[in-house]
Amino acid sequence: MKKIGIFYGSTTGTTKKVAHDIGRILGVSEADIHDVASTPPSDVGGYEVLVLGSSTWNDGALQDDWYDFLAGMSVLDLSRKYVAVFGCGDETMSDTFCSAVGEIRNRIKDTGAKLIAPYDVVGYHFEHSGAVAENAVEAEGLLLDEVNHPELTAPRIAGWCALISEVAKG
Ligand SMILES: Cc1cc2nc3c(=O)[nH]c(=O)nc-3n(C[C@H](O)[C@H](O)[C@H](O)COP(=O)(O)O)c2cc1C
Repeated sequence: MKKIGIFYGSTTGTTKKVAHDIGRILGVSEADIHDVASTPPSDVGGYEVLVLGSSTWNDGALQDDWYDFLAGMSVLDLSRKYVAVFGCGDETMSDTFCSAVGEIRNRIKDTGAKLIAPYDVVGYHFEHSGAVAENAVEAEGLLLDEVNHPELTAPRIAGWCALISEVAKG
């Protein structure tokens, strides 16, 4: 079993809560769930599978605490690591829904990390997201809307975590 670490940035606590829900499903202990506001980027070195979560703010921007963390992470050699990304947003911000998920992926693309667990966006209602390439049916990670559709979060998390568990087992 590969060791999984969860790293999140959260301004009002939503992504933090979701990070812990994901942790429970994946069997990740509390000590391996990290707030990026108070964690050095080098801590990713202790894990083989990294689950990264950010809310989206201000027309598609990363949650604030991610900027410094990603700057530190982007210079590391992550070529032996798997990375899955999730985000919390608001579908009514229809042009930038969960765009931070795409932003994280862009910022770590030169690290050599293997990006895993893209996820279906069928049943969502938004026009554009930085996490979904033109004409794609999958987002580059798990997109969640706790503002308008909290009832959809648990099944979405369950489906997405199954993809991560497969990789962690292999
Ligand atoms: C001022 C403001 C700007 C926001 N901008 C976006 C946005 O561009 N895209 C999006 O999907 N959600 C946006 N949101 C919604 C937040 O991402 C959402 O409320 C999220 O659950 C907050 O998570 P956090 O508490 O973990 O930071 C915005 C919310 C506020 C209050």
